[in-house]
Amino acid sequence: MIKNKILITGGAGFIGAHLANELKKNNKIMIVDNLENKGGIPHIDKSNFFVKGNILDKKILKKIETWKPDIIYHLAAQSGGEGAYDDPKKDFDTNGFGTYLIAKLAKKIKCKYFIYASSVAVYGSSKKKLTENSNINPDSIYGISKYAGEMFVNQILNKTNVKVRIFRIFNTYGPGENLQNLKKGMVSIYCSFIWKKKPLIIKGSLYRYRNLMYIFDCVNILCRSINNKKLKKFEILNLSNGKKIIVKDLVKMILKVNNLKEWKIINKKDTPGDSFGNNASDKILKKKFNDYKFINLEDGLKKYFLWINKIKDKNLINSHPYKINKNYKI
Ligand SMILES: NC(=O)c1ccc[n+]([C@@H]2O[C@H](COP(=O)([O-])OP(=O)(O)OC[C@H]3O[C@@H](n4cnc5c(N)ncnc54)[C@H](O)[C@@H]3O)[C@@H](O)[C@H]2O)c1
Repeated sequence: MIKNKILITGGAGFIGAHLANELKKNNKIMIVDNLENKGGIPHIDKSNFFVKGNILDKKILKKIETWKPDIIYHLAAQSGGEGAYDDPKKDFDTNGFGTYLIAKLAKKIKCKYFIYASSVAVYGSSKKKLTENSNINPDSIYGISKYAGEMFVNQILNKTNVKVRIFRIFNTYGPGENLQNLKKGMVSIYCSFIWKKKPLIIKGSLYRYRNLMYIFDCVNILCRSINNKKLKKFEILNLSNGKKIIVKDLVKMILKVNNLKEWKIINKKDTPGDSFGNNASDKILKKKFNDYKFINLEDGLKKYFLWINKIKDKNLINSHPYKINKNYKI
């Protein structure tokens, strides 16, 4: 039985492709993606309705309006902190104005749910443990544009009947990421050097810290956020496992899961837009998602390398996990 018509913008990207794979089991899926970004290896499941196009394009918006989704997962974005510095206007157009347009459309078609993939970057660097009420103080172009998106969602949808979930997603890693992109995804960048059997280049301090979440957990929470009676009509949540890890220990763990005793490490100066540290409390998320148990870093990295070690083509075109095995389980 088909339950809902779900639009996933950015549904060919890293998180979006896995989300689509989970949601397609019980729902009709439309994917809108311009296949421009390279956060993930692009993947579109043939059983989904795919529209290649830009969320800023009026004709694409009309197509969405005609299809009339009940639920919108809005993930399309310029998704890299460092990438935003290459083209700040594009970053703001996509993440800010693009979100404005999709939120306006959600209001117009009176959809049931609007789920927005925001980012930890809205907080900037912080020494304190972050809660959903922490100060918003982005220290990057990307953080500013993602927060602009949040404000548009709030302004446009808060007083409507659309149920809104804004997830401030913390660093997510796992199969399907583009290991050739050295401008997005701390875990994927470091793992890519092991994959290429090259010295591991670390830009910035070894004492920077993050919360690192395996893709399965990120997708699971996003899926469970619809029909979740514990969530308010308008809910903002940190999507994080609440486990602080410093870069130095992340690298040690990457070597451990690969049974490597040592590896050449080159430390370089930091990159623009890279926060020193963020670490969240998972208290509210756990309360609202029945004490959800996250996969720990060691197990997540083991799963990640099971995929990485199967990659045969350097350009990654045929290496998306669902291309290697269409029943792939993240
Ligand atoms: N991966 C993470 O760790 C992380 C952390 C925080 C927030 N997020 C957010 O989650 C979302 C998904 O991230 P991801 O890691 O899957 O990134 P991604 O780059 O792999 O996916 C984004 C997708 O959006 C598409 N896209 C970009 N601009 C578009 C446009 N104008 N029109 C249509 N499609 C467009 C890209 O082609 C890409 O497929 C993004 O909004 C990102 O900001 C991700």
